[in-house]
Amino acid sequence: MVEEVLGGLNIRPERLYVDGTVGEGGHAEAILRRTSQRGELWGLDRNPMVLQVAAGRLAPFTSRFRLMHASFARLGELLAARTPPRTAGILLDLGLSLYLLRRSGRGFSFQEDEPLDMRLDPTAPGPTARQLLQDSSREELERIFREYGEEPQARRLARVLVEGRRRRPLATTAHLVQVVQETLGSGRRGRHHPATRVFQALRLAVNRELEELEAFLEGAPTWLEPEGRLVIISYHSLEDRMVKQRFLSWERAGLMVRLGRKPLTPTPAEVARNPRARSAKLRVAEKIS
Ligand SMILES: C[S@@+](CC[C@H](N)C(=O)[O-])C[C@H]1O[C@@H](n2cnc3c(N)ncnc32)[C@H](O)[C@@H]1O
Repeated sequence: MVEEVLGGLNIRPERLYVDGTVGEGGHAEAILRRTSQRGELWGLDRNPMVLQVAAGRLAPFTSRFRLMHASFARLGELLAARTPPRTAGILLDLGLSLYLLRRSGRGFSFQEDEPLDMRLDPTAPGPTARQLLQDSSREELERIFREYGEEPQARRLARVLVEGRRRRPLATTAHLVQVVQETLGSGRRGRHHPATRVFQALRLAVNRELEELEAFLEGAPTWLEPEGRLVIISYHSLEDRMVKQRFLSWERAGLMVRLGRKPLTPTPAEVARNPRARSAKLRVAEKIS
């Protein structure tokens, strides 16, 4: 959704833009192309490996970009060292990058057989998904599957996992998929494999992703200059609901105005090119001057 992102940010060529989830730098490169020699981009990511890929991709833009190994929730602290401490636009693209899914070897995808790690930042102390599954109480696992996965059979799954881990600790994605299928069945639910919600729930819990998004949304309006734009792409209903409600409350408080009531979604042609984009929802808000 590159054109939609650029349109949403309403790029002003000489300003600072922040890509809070720079990943492998696809959107960042498109933003830099639209800015002038005086325009700047900051790219943040919790994963140090993708920052290396982004650094290679953005190298032709030399001194016009900075990459930082940091969560977007800390953007306020990073901007505080700058005068003025504000940016003309922020982008968050909240999904997983292709690198994390296919090449990180950290257990993000239930289609690969890998150790159950799921930390976006492998330098973070943990817990990993494996530790969470081994050490959490049945009640805590049930809460994780219910709140972060909206899994209707959360209690049953938590009970089965706690009984099973005494005999054989869960260490790999294939083992977890097997237990999920034995407990919840192996038939698809709508478009989704039964393990989809469980993997989402564990990833959100390991990385405290909703808490990070909440902390970001708490500060974002103060980090934007007047008429600055915020563009957020989310990939599941928990995140999209948080963004939607926060945008509405900002509008009611006279802080930001929503651009469009309904989110933008990818065209069928884009979904055909990139099936992972199928659940993307893009929302835009502008700071009131
Ligand atoms: C969908 S990818 C971004 C892809 C990017 N827009 C591109 O064009 O290549 C999402 C990225 O967000 C990162 N991420 C997730 N939560 C984060 C957070 N709280 N702070 C910074 N980066 C985060 C992930 O590590 C991942 O690299």
